[in-house]
Amino acid sequence: MTLVAPPSIPRAAGSVPLLGHAIQLMRDNLGFIASLRTRYGPLVEITLQPGTRTVIVQDPDLIRTMLTDLGPSLDKGRFFEKMGQLLGDSVVTAAGQEHVRKRRQLQPAFGRPEISRYVDIMRGETTAAVDTWAPGRQLDVREAMVKLSLDMLAKTIFSGSLDEVTFRRLREDLSVVMNGVGARVMLPDWVERLPLPFNRRFTTARDAVRATISQAVAELQDSGQDTGDMLSLLLRATDEETGRPLTGHQIASEVLTLAVAGTETTASVLSWALYEITRNADIERTVLDELDTVLEGRPIALEDLPHLPYLDRVIRETLRLHHTGWLVTRRTVTQTRLGPWSLPAGTELAYCQHALHRDPALFPDPLSFNPDRWLEDAQTKAFTPGAYLPFGAGKHKCIGDRFALTELVTAIATIVRRLRFELPPNQTVRPVAQATVRPSTLLMTVHQRNAPAEQEQCSRPVDRPR
Ligand code: HEM
Repeated sequence: MTLVAPPSIPRAAGSVPLLGHAIQLMRDNLGFIASLRTRYGPLVEITLQPGTRTVIVQDPDLIRTMLTDLGPSLDKGRFFEKMGQLLGDSVVTAAGQEHVRKRRQLQPAFGRPEISRYVDIMRGETTAAVDTWAPGRQLDVREAMVKLSLDMLAKTIFSGSLDEVTFRRLREDLSVVMNGVGARVMLPDWVERLPLPFNRRFTTARDAVRATISQAVAELQDSGQDTGDMLSLLLRATDEETGRPLTGHQIASEVLTLAVAGTETTASVLSWALYEITRNADIERTVLDELDTVLEGRPIALEDLPHLPYLDRVIRETLRLHHTGWLVTRRTVTQTRLGPWSLPAGTELAYCQHALHRDPALFPDPLSFNPDRWLEDAQTKAFTPGAYLPFGAGKHKCIGDRFALTELVTAIATIVRRLRFELPPNQTVRPVAQATVRPSTLLMTVHQRNAPAEQEQCSRPVDRPR
């Protein structure tokens, strides 16, 4: 038998000394990463940060191997390491056995029975947000969705444990931390040490979140009360090594990273879903018809979720075409085999969900928004396993996937039944990759949808005002 040496891993063109590919990344990071799929094979090397090399994995089979088979033996890589430095160790940043322990501690907070209790909070927060969006006015939809997503998550965690004033202050601080992390993970470490207002604001907000949570934890422990929120659940978790409950510091690290992992992501998907529903009259009508038939005028509840297959397909398609993830990283700890390649210890790896989900070899007509590609028949014909990874795969698969899907259905149903949006004629909505892939700007005019005459018009697309 003759052994064939694997091809060497090509280095993407355009790298310059000292800067690597920084210029292309600064100019158009998403476009640059997407262009690699058409120009190179399953693996290609780029320089994300000067002095570092990252192998971008482009082939769906190899991506799956990296996430599932190799998952337990890889570190999480630079992006997550930086998050750990900023926010403390958590399930998001941990690898190996430490990750298994942390994941077990957190899992009960994301179980099916708990999610059923969170739906009322999600619907309540969405209704409260809708009440503040004045009809006839232009709404910055992306900003509104970030606020709504943070409100839904923060209320779920703290609804019973904090008074209103403390809750509002904590939410503001979490918002500063969330925005700051996205910018920092891509910056060189020394930038964080500069005595700039940008850095001071971040540190102050993060420390304030820690202090508030530690105090809430101490009060809950003293009172022995179960407040029924996620914080109470986290408090019942024990550290497997010590057998003791998690400390205020540990819980604060988990909450800080949950806010980062679970807010921008949900907000971007909500924004894109509302954008697609607004610009596709047929899709909007079908969503509304389904909601009318299933809900018969009542507010959405958990039991309704399995009976909204069309809205489910709209969300799946949003998670395909507009995936929020642009680079998920890992790092080899030892010499590691990936397909025919042998990667030395310390190799940084990454994959881009956004580019994967738009690959014409994997999804026919990839740039068109077509919820019906997810119909059973169409799906089984066209689907390549490993091509669609909205929540990742393997041991680091999103722990909040069910939570997020519940938020998405609940929020979209609540919003579109009350309001219709209108896009300004000349607005160009482009995807930009920052902490997540989000719309560059998304301004839409809000209109009330509750007048019966208008509902009538909504079911007749030809007459409907846009
Ligand atoms: C639509 C919204 C969301 C999307 C698209 C999304 C996507 C993902 C993806 C792709 C991963 C895997 C990352 C990796 O492979 O390293 C992940 C992990 C994670 N997500 Fe989500 N996520 C969403 C919402 C949420 C929410 C709402 C929460 C929590 C409330 C959450 C918490 C987490 C956590 C804790 C992890 C790390 C899991 C681990 O490493 O064990 N996510 N998410």
